[in-house]
Amino acid sequence: MNITIHKTTMPKPVPQDDSKLGFGQIFSDHMFIMNYKTGSGWHDARIVPFENLSLSPAAMVLHYGQEIFEGLKAYRDSNNKIRLFRPQENFKRMNVSAKRLVIPEIPEDIVLDALKQLINLDKNWVPHSDGASLYIRPFVFATDPFVGVRPGDEYLFIIITSPSGPYYATGLNPVGIYVEENYVRAVKGGMGYTKTGGNYAASLAGQAEAKKQNFAQVLWLDGIERKYIEEVGAMNIFFVMNDEVITPELQGSVLEGITRQSAIELCRKWGMKVTERRISIQEVADAYKAGTLQECFGTGTAAVISPVGLLKWGNMIMEINNNKIGELSAKLYDTLTGIQYGRLPDEFNWSMMID
Ligand code: PLP
Ligand code: COI
Repeated sequence: MNITIHKTTMPKPVPQDDSKLGFGQIFSDHMFIMNYKTGSGWHDARIVPFENLSLSPAAMVLHYGQEIFEGLKAYRDSNNKIRLFRPQENFKRMNVSAKRLVIPEIPEDIVLDALKQLINLDKNWVPHSDGASLYIRPFVFATDPFVGVRPGDEYLFIIITSPSGPYYATGLNPVGIYVEENYVRAVKGGMGYTKTGGNYAASLAGQAEAKKQNFAQVLWLDGIERKYIEEVGAMNIFFVMNDEVITPELQGSVLEGITRQSAIELCRKWGMKVTERRISIQEVADAYKAGTLQECFGTGTAAVISPVGLLKWGNMIMEINNNKIGELSAKLYDTLTGIQYGRLPDEFNWSMMID
């Protein structure tokens, strides 16, 4: 598929102070967009200036939420080259989400090529400082003007990019997490394993409650027994107990994080015991009381590795590792960012150079 490029005639000023970027608030000069229509397939692939969309108020996505997205980053290395981290995995996962939401399959090679061209064009928007990166947001949604419920016949696939700093204002410092007991995010058979807007909409009420109590995010429990740990709002979760690294197994309600998979592979390479299994909040509390809960951390593209220093469950507040960054959290953070920014050898072949 040929990608046409229409460059902006009014480039915006590129932010100069990376410490003021925040997360996902500023957008680069261009975006990639292509259309789908039943019968014609994906077509009209183009890079155009970042601009508002024109949609019918009846566009199906606005009513029934037929939408999926991805999140990945571009990093500038010390040779001024731009790198992506395992981007094929994001587009593969996007098609897993597409299938569940009855969205037509997205041609992975074409969108990866489009992404490379987009980043190349907006190269100067990739931040220069360590810890900052260009956050990339591919997304797809149904645009048919129709207020009946059925899968769409018309879609837009778009990629926008946003120079960003750390997801949490605290950076690598430990975050406080609140165990949600009233609301659930997802259940087996639902959409929990996909990246669709509805999962995040379902999370907002719990997230608001966590904020009210001064916690950064919610730790979700399983939707049926309300006992087993699933994941955090924008991260997968890991515990270290008795030198064993434990993370909830994937059984349909948890997002299969690419950072999660990378952390598992690194820990195994380092000879650590890593177990993917059901783990209850009671087991974590018992380990905490027994003094065997060594560390807890979240993994995610936006958050990288985020140590959890405080975990609130009902009336109990667990202060993990004295609310300090743990040894494994720090090692994983240094290694992952080392590979992402090209400071460390890329033994797993995870980095993809843009040019
Ligand atoms: N879980 C949720 C709900 C997320 O939104 C994310 C972020 O994308 C993750 C986990 C971590 O996934 P990844 O490591 O692929 O970014
Ligand atoms: C991620 O891309 O890491 C995310 O979690 C997306 C998010 C900001 C909801």
